[in-house]
Amino acid sequence: MLLQECLDGLNIRSGLTYVDATVGAGGHLAAIRERLGAKGNLIGIDKDKTSLDKVAARLPDAASYIHGDYCDIADHLQSLGVRTIDGGILADLGVSSMQLDNTERGFSFLRDGPLDMRMDNTQKLSASTIVNEYQEREIADIIYKYGEERLSRQIARRIVSKRPIHTTGELSEIVAGCIYTARGTRGHNKNRSKSRSDRLDDSHPATRTFQALRIAVNSELASLEKFLHESVKILAPGARLAVISFHSLEDRIVKQILRQYAKGCICPPRQPVCTCGKHPELLIMTSKPVTASDEEVLANIRSRSAKLRVGEKV
Ligand SMILES: C[S@@+](CC[C@H](N)C(=O)[O-])C[C@H]1O[C@@H](n2cnc3c(N)ncnc32)[C@H](O)[C@@H]1O
Repeated sequence: MLLQECLDGLNIRSGLTYVDATVGAGGHLAAIRERLGAKGNLIGIDKDKTSLDKVAARLPDAASYIHGDYCDIADHLQSLGVRTIDGGILADLGVSSMQLDNTERGFSFLRDGPLDMRMDNTQKLSASTIVNEYQEREIADIIYKYGEERLSRQIARRIVSKRPIHTTGELSEIVAGCIYTARGTRGHNKNRSKSRSDRLDDSHPATRTFQALRIAVNSELASLEKFLHESVKILAPGARLAVISFHSLEDRIVKQILRQYAKGCICPPRQPVCTCGKHPELLIMTSKPVTASDEEVLANIRSRSAKLRVGEKV
């Protein structure tokens, strides 16, 4: 996704070291290696060991592979003796199509699989734990916070009343039923104009709840924040950080953290002289996020929500 735009954003130069922090099916990784040529290091990280092993078997010489969470990028690189990155770091956030399409992984509300959603299947917490063991209030908070779902409380109540829930199909039906009931009782006001949020709801009634559970299971937002801070620290001057996000919660974090490093001084605005001594550490290369071309969206509908932001270490 946004492949050409990522390669350009990373400004790939022969002889330098690059990191693909989200190897997935290896599409970006293979393209980076091709542009990098034989000279230059490439390191691939993914917390999904199954897909990482597949890519490592298919492209053994393309990169050094590390199984782990990108939030620990500095430690992972140090295990290879790498302390700074002089080329760039890429993160293409979210789930891969390999994960979405594999029923057994339980990511999709369109396929009936176990309630799993773990990107790293060595971790304990799964969607089943949250759905079947968490308190109603905790479930509602997750659905509201990570799914921005207005009907979070009703959905949580319905989930708890239907326990135990075993599959994504069951959960998807329960959520859809709850939303249709709520819409049925509200749906009389036909003149109400549709907000962006309403239009999003039209995609599938379980979209927001599944997104929320996935984010909670994989601690996605906390991982992303730590990854961005660590990445900025380990970049050498002139090296780039490129991040593709897929929803507003992720994009907000990327935008805010890049801005924070681009700003430098953190003294109160009314203070006449800077006393904090902080200087900008990043130059933002994308004043607006780069989005997919019409052709790419036509070829792959998921790319319509992708946003690429790039920063360069000062
Ligand atoms: C959208 S896919 C990447 C697709 C990839 N760019 C390609 O060309 O095939 C996202 C990948 O990031 C991985 N991932 C998500 N969060 C992660 C994290 N915190 N640490 C490491 N990998 C993560 C997922 O397991 C998934 O394989």
